[in-house]
Amino acid sequence: MYLEHLELVDYRNYAELRLELEPGAYILAGDNAQGKSNICEAIRLLATMRSFRAGSERELIRWGAPNGFTRVRALVRQAAGPLKMEIVISAPPMLGEYDGVGYLDQLTPPAASGMHKKIRVNDAPRRALDCVGLVTVVLFEPTDLDLVSGTPQGRRHFMDVTLCQISRGYCRALSQYQKILTQRAALLRRIRDNLDEPGSLHYWDEQLAQQAVPIIVERSSLITRCLPTADEFARQLGGKSLTLEYQPSFAIPVDQSVPAARFALMERLAALRKREIIQGVNLIGPHRDDLAFFEGPVNLGIFGSRGQQRTAALALKIAELAAIETETGDQPILVLDDVLSELDPTRQAALTHRIRTVSQVFLTSADPETMPPDFHMWATRLQVRRGTIQPI
Ligand SMILES: Nc1ncnc2c1ncn2[C@@H]1O[C@H](COP(=O)(O)OP(=O)(O)O)[C@@H](O)[C@H]1O
Ligand SMILES: [Mg+2]
Repeated sequence: MYLEHLELVDYRNYAELRLELEPGAYILAGDNAQGKSNICEAIRLLATMRSFRAGSERELIRWGAPNGFTRVRALVRQAAGPLKMEIVISAPPMLGEYDGVGYLDQLTPPAASGMHKKIRVNDAPRRALDCVGLVTVVLFEPTDLDLVSGTPQGRRHFMDVTLCQISRGYCRALSQYQKILTQRAALLRRIRDNLDEPGSLHYWDEQLAQQAVPIIVERSSLITRCLPTADEFARQLGGKSLTLEYQPSFAIPVDQSVPAARFALMERLAALRKREIIQGVNLIGPHRDDLAFFEGPVNLGIFGSRGQQRTAALALKIAELAAIETETGDQPILVLDDVLSELDPTRQAALTHRIRTVSQVFLTSADPETMPPDFHMWATRLQVRRGTIQPI
């Protein structure tokens, strides 16, 4: 798929931007603080309905915007046909009801911020949670290079953002699961403080197991599917064989039925009950999962060199792209925000070679001259300056 038209009104430092785009690669060149990451954020918003960098959606509204709202409009050409999308985020006061929001880019629901988000797809109003993954975007930014050495939360986030774009069911289960975790933790603490009965946990155990099982199954299947591509790309980068290992806090054997898995998880929760009450926290479930990377027997997260860790992270991102394409039948839009300059020439060359077949790619750089020379031959260069974008 590709973006044919993108329009921003009062989005971050863009007062008004209209871009007509084609398939292919775009280099967004510009000095620091000109709006390169802001445009990446807006493109990603079309896929996840949430910002990957804002703590509060209020941050997205341009400072001093006269009407107190920001609007992102896009026309996306997909294999299945054109898709018109409009996202309007406004600060109170404004009439209208608050739409349900998928808690995608955070593991906990945002505090009630009073922000309003209105989404229209092909001119019809839709709920945010139903729009996640209509457009698919793979974003790669410098912090993703630390995926292997970073926190488990970052790796869970990778799995969640990928799967939410592939599967509406996953996105719903995840959103429900987050809410259940919050409620259940509160209940555990109430029981600990003798304000509630341990018996009331049974209902929440059932709820937790119901949402947790599909999350675990889908994560496991995603990692299995990512493995061949990740391994192949790691080898192209000069690494040895790369293995990915999904490490769920509660494992489900591949041949186990969903009801049996749910039952097993509930039994496990029953066994952990005392400890959970004492600690007042949810001790098992997808929120405690992890993902490990191995080169042969070597766990790269612990023993890998920085170079090996970066190769593995890069390979996983390429695998994400392939996995989304296979599952949805359409290539995601690829956004590389400031990553190329972080890579050595070999990795740069391998990456730029690999992404040539992607239908649309945006790469930002403060120093585009350092990009592989042949890349300039087939990429269109645009200049980002103080919230404007001009062809060069
Ligand atoms: N809501 C906002 N209104 C106006 N300007 C903003 C807003 N949020 C961020 N900015 C400005 O956007 C600029 C950062 O843009 P960014 O896209 O991150 O830069 P870069 O080109 O380095 O990636 C900063 O100058 C920042 O002050
Ligand atoms: Mg930036």
